[in-house]
Amino acid sequence: GHPHKPKDVAWSFEGPFGKFDQAQLQRGYKVYREVCSACHSMTLVSFRNLGDKGGPFYSAEYKNSNDNPWVKAIAKDYEVADIDSETGDAIKRPATSADRFPAPFANEPAARANNGGALPPDMSLLAKARTGGPDYIYSLLTGYHEPPAGLKVGPGQHYNPYMPGDLTAAWSGPHDKVPAGGFIAMAAPLKDGLVTFDDGTKSTVDQQAKDVSAFLMWAAEPKLEERKKMGFVVILYLLLFSGLLYASYRKVWKNES
Ligand code: HEM
Repeated sequence: GHPHKPKDVAWSFEGPFGKFDQAQLQRGYKVYREVCSACHSMTLVSFRNLGDKGGPFYSAEYKNSNDNPWVKAIAKDYEVADIDSETGDAIKRPATSADRFPAPFANEPAARANNGGALPPDMSLLAKARTGGPDYIYSLLTGYHEPPAGLKVGPGQHYNPYMPGDLTAAWSGPHDKVPAGGFIAMAAPLKDGLVTFDDGTKSTVDQQAKDVSAFLMWAAEPKLEERKKMGFVVILYLLLFSGLLYASYRKVWKNES
């Protein structure tokens, strides 16, 4: 049957005045870094984006995010492939703020070979690419549970009620009671205490899932705050302009009746 409808999380970035919660983005980045990035790439995001306005490591002190010391330190921890400009040899060097996040696997066959044939999707736009967005990612991460009796789960597969799919063929129970959801090749990636949050926030699965989903929303739409602010300015302008237009209409036609 249909997957469960994602849980409705109250995100800080919802609504006309929504903003990313920077502390949450920093925790979410840590979850991405320590857990998800072992399998999932995020190739459209550059390290310097982390220090852009609205980003997890933005600081007003560093107008140019390339100078941001948090960003530099994060980049330096990664290795990227490059060409030595003198010898022309293929080399590995520490990343800089200007580099993009390197992928964990060299190519798709390598990614599949390491994941039982399944392909971990790139995370750059994941929060915008799936119905439900961050609600869906959060629900999927927290939604793993024992498969219902009567459901045959194949090797390397996991039951998740939030995963889209059709379980009819694997179901031996009543035909009108096919469980919701689908099979997913990713095992539940989170565990209580798996990531230590630097701000002292208790590291539950629920918290990790919320924070990484918020982070992925930021990654997919880093200009969300600017877009909302601009929308507000546009509406304000239109309202004022309508008022002005109406006032001049009254003035121009005041002697006609
Ligand atoms: C798929 C999130 C960690 C391997 C997915 C999907 C999401 C996701 C949202 C997509 C489901 C869909 O297609 O709609 C995450 C997050 C992680 C994480 C937020 C970190 C907290 C991992 C890790 C691995 C992994 C550590 C490898 C050990 C995979 C694979 C798929 C997948 C192979 C494809 C599954 C399939 O098509 O059946 N992940 N993931 N993921 N993930 Fe992860």
